[in-house]
Amino acid sequence: MTITPTGGALGAYVDGVDFSAPLSEEVRAQLRAAWSEHLVLVWRSASTLDKTLLEVASVFGPVQSPPARKLHSPSSYVHDGRTVVLDPRLALISNLDRTGKPVPVNRLLGSSEVAWHSDYSYDPIPPAGSLLMALTVPLDGGGDTHFNNQYLAYDELAPALKRAVEGRLQVHDNSRDSAGLPRDQQKTPLSFEDVHGARHPLVRTHPATGRRALYLGRRCARPSSYILGLPTHESEDLLDQLWAHATQPHYGWRHQWRVGDIVLWDNRACMHYRSAVDPAQPRVMHRTMVKGEPLTPG
Ligand code: SIN
Repeated sequence: MTITPTGGALGAYVDGVDFSAPLSEEVRAQLRAAWSEHLVLVWRSASTLDKTLLEVASVFGPVQSPPARKLHSPSSYVHDGRTVVLDPRLALISNLDRTGKPVPVNRLLGSSEVAWHSDYSYDPIPPAGSLLMALTVPLDGGGDTHFNNQYLAYDELAPALKRAVEGRLQVHDNSRDSAGLPRDQQKTPLSFEDVHGARHPLVRTHPATGRRALYLGRRCARPSSYILGLPTHESEDLLDQLWAHATQPHYGWRHQWRVGDIVLWDNRACMHYRSAVDPAQPRVMHRTMVKGEPLTPG
């Protein structure tokens, strides 16, 4: 196996692992160690088979069906005139409508830009990892996925900000999806009292590495996520400063997709962002997740 760092603030390419045969415990341990070190692992042009995606995911922990699958991701979809049936442990991320035509907006993140976030941070136990496999990518039409390293963001936080986040909890707004659209059956809050979702520490300790990472979740139009125990203006001001710091370009790295790429990222120590997709070109991904664990405060 070879692990080649991307040269950015996080991420590495993995070569030389054959997922069609059973993997030894030694190889599995090496892959888990590489994930702990690099946060994002990329298999280039590896497969478009659901069973390979699920096999990769299972190396890193119990496979979890993405919550979106229950809410609005279909169990089958039409693409290139064919009906594709999805394994129940997978969800669809695509800009196709029901007839298989690319569109600007749908319930599957559509063609829009997807702001920085970590997946399902508004849930009590967010997934440890997320995986995407690319089935169709726009030839020259955007849809790159960017990742950033929240260990580095925490390490380089100014001392006053480190003191300000120490021991603080944030309420993570569960009303909107990653594209900023209202989630099924949720009302967009009109006041901070209307904001609901899990409470998580702003700094968390990674269970595998013991390192501290900033844990911000996502930032939607106000009123949205807030820091418990602070007056609204102080919470907003602190969140603005933390977001400006955590999303600086030097903490990030961008993946440009090819068909068959499988990418795994760690929601506990990185965030991700997707650039907008040309709505005239299809983009189709299958997603699964690795189950998380209760958060350990930093
Ligand atoms: C996501 O934000 O989870 C989707 C990323 C992507 O479509 O590349």
